[in-house]
Amino acid sequence: MSAALPVALPDYAAAAAERLDAQARAYFDGGAADELTLSANLRAWQQIRLQSRVLRPMTGAHTRVELLGRTLAHPVLLAPVAFQQLAHPDGELATAHAAAALQAGMVLSTQSSVPVEAVARAFRGDPDAGPLWFQLYIQPDRDFTLALVRRAEAAGCEALVLTVDAPVSGARDRERRAGFRLPPGVRAVHLEGLRRPPSPALQPGQSALFDGLLAGMPTWVDVAWLVGHTRLPVLLKGITHPDDARLAREAGAAGLIVSNHGGRTLDTVPATAELLPRIVAAVDGLPVLVDGGIRRGTDVLKALGLGARAVLVGRPQVHALAVAGAQGVAHMLRLLRDELEIAMALTGCRRLTEAAAALSPPA
Ligand code: FNR
Ligand code: LAC
Repeated sequence: MSAALPVALPDYAAAAAERLDAQARAYFDGGAADELTLSANLRAWQQIRLQSRVLRPMTGAHTRVELLGRTLAHPVLLAPVAFQQLAHPDGELATAHAAAALQAGMVLSTQSSVPVEAVARAFRGDPDAGPLWFQLYIQPDRDFTLALVRRAEAAGCEALVLTVDAPVSGARDRERRAGFRLPPGVRAVHLEGLRRPPSPALQPGQSALFDGLLAGMPTWVDVAWLVGHTRLPVLLKGITHPDDARLAREAGAAGLIVSNHGGRTLDTVPATAELLPRIVAAVDGLPVLVDGGIRRGTDVLKALGLGARAVLVGRPQVHALAVAGAQGVAHMLRLLRDELEIAMALTGCRRLTEAAAALSPPA
C-alpha cells in the first residue's frame, strides 16, 4: 500500500491495484466488452447535483432506513462479490466480520469462497449486526438449488437475492486478455458436488448458447417456483426494465435491486442512476435497492433521493479487503457512512426518507 492512509474509497482502489496480481485485478476491476457501462455507472452519480441548505438544526438527524421489516442503522449493504479469497486469505469471512461490526448488511454470493455457515457465525448473536442475505443463482439442477436455499435458511440468512441478469457472463475482454483462471485453493464452495447436466445433442443449425447452456437456465416461472419454496423474502437483482420490475412483483418478489452487475454483463446498458427512477415509479411501494458505481456518501444520498431504499457496493469491498483485510472493509464502510452524514448535514437532510429534497432541482 502507498504510505498515505486511505481517506476515501478511490484510495482503496488505487492501493489495491498495487497489491493484487494482474489476474485478480482483471477479474475484480474488469467489466464487459468496452466497459462503457462500467464507467457510465460511476459518471452518472457524479453528474447528479445536490442542493446545499444552510442553518438547519440537525440534532436528532440519523441515517436509519426501514427494509423488509427491520430498521437498518444506515442504508449501505455489501453486494455479492464472488471469490473473495482472491483478495485476502480470509475472504468472505473477513468481509462478514467487518459488515457485522459496522452494522452493514451483507449479501453472500453463491460463488463465495467461504461457506455460508461460517460467514453466518460472524453475524450471529449480535443484535446490531446488519442482515445477512444469500445471493442465489438458480442452477439447472433444481434439487441442488433448493438444497442451497435450505442451507442459507438454516444458517440464518434473512433474505434471498436472486440474480437474474447473468445467465451467461458478458464478453469479459479484460479477463480473457489477462488469461484469468482461479488459482488452486480458491473455489466456489457452495457449488461443490453440482452435477452439470449432459449437454443436449445439438441439431444442425442450433446454437451452443441458446439450445445448450441456456436450456437449463431459469425463466419467470422459476421465480414464482422459488418464492413458493422458501419462507425467506426473495429480491430480484439485475432489473433494468420497468416491465421486468412489474413481472417481478407479480411473481412475488419482496424487493428489487436495480443493477447492471457493475457493468459486467451487457455492455452499453444505461447507468443504474439513470434507470432507477423509472423502476421505482413502476413498482410504487415495493422496496427498490440499487448498485453500480457507488463510491461516495453523496452517491448514497443521491440514490436515496431518486427513490432507492438502500444501496450496495461491490468492488470497494474487495479493494479494501486486499489492502487491509477485515479492518480495511470496516474502514471503507465507516468512510462511506461518515461521508453520507456529512452530505446530509450540508443539505439539511434530517431523514433519508426526505432525501429527494437534497437533489438539485428537487425531484
Ligand atoms: C460481482 N457481482 C456479482 N453479483 C452477483 O449477483 N453474484 C456474484 O457472485 C457476483 N460476483 C461479482 C464479482 C465481482 C468481482 C464483481 C466486481 C461483481 C456484481 C455485484 O454484486 C454488483 O452488482 C456490482 O459489483 C456493483 O457495482 P460496483 O459497486 O462494483 O460498481
Ligand atoms: C461475476 C459473477 C460471479 O460477476 O457474478 O463475476
